[in-house]
Amino acid sequence: MKLVHISDTHLTVPGERMGGLNPHLRLAKALDEVRTQHSDASRIIITGDLTHWGEPKAYLSLVDNLKNLPCPVRLLVGNHDDRAAFLAAFPDYSGNPAGFINYAETIEDTRLIYLDTTQPRTHAGHFCAARRDWLREELNKCTRARLFMHHNPMPLGLPAEDKIALVPEDRIPLAELLNTFRERIDYIHFGHVHAPIHGTWCGIQFASVRSTGNQSIPDLIEQESLQGAPMAPSFSVILVTEEGTTIHEIPFTWEGPVFSTGTAWEDWAKPTAAE
Ligand SMILES: [Fe+2]
Repeated sequence: MKLVHISDTHLTVPGERMGGLNPHLRLAKALDEVRTQHSDASRIIITGDLTHWGEPKAYLSLVDNLKNLPCPVRLLVGNHDDRAAFLAAFPDYSGNPAGFINYAETIEDTRLIYLDTTQPRTHAGHFCAARRDWLREELNKCTRARLFMHHNPMPLGLPAEDKIALVPEDRIPLAELLNTFRERIDYIHFGHVHAPIHGTWCGIQFASVRSTGNQSIPDLIEQESLQGAPMAPSFSVILVTEEGTTIHEIPFTWEGPVFSTGTAWEDWAKPTAAE
């Protein structure tokens, strides 16, 4: 199974820029790359911060961007999103338990579980008892799962960013729940941090992905301010097999030269100098 993981598209009202770049152009480029190189993907999963200011016109632009794709798209909301505006543009996502955008599906014996970790008017993540109960039921029903969410549920050693991770009062009971089911959870995937960060939490491997817009600079010292820059974006391609998981970062905006070479020993031999 191949999954495309895109995150933090931060769309604006078309014509408006975000952080000095055009987020619509960036998303269009990423999706063009998916169309040409990953038409065999089972799902494209966008883990939140779909828009930057939660505006209806930004969501309508996302509707347009997501046309003519090779596989179904699964959307999550992030701290920059507005649940009501999102649901107005994407009514198929309404009707989920307790008003949250939590849902799941099974592909090739793996339960893909999509979580809503947002709470209005805060950038920090929340995952209350009602959401944990829903997740427990999902995990009880399956033998193999993979979780997708917007916020990093664990602290990452980045003092400023950790202030807007999942809040401790929800992190601790979520960790208890995931520890119970760790044997059946293959991976946790999230966005929010605008950087590729990998590790383990509750004995489960995790991976984040860059934004298609601005990137964050991992700052292990700064206590208050988030550090960001318009560095090169990427999205992830996740390959899932019986043997494990492989994650590729795809640098979809590179326009410089590309060198091509064979794999035989002689193909990398030093050229013979001209006489
Ligand atoms: Fe974001």
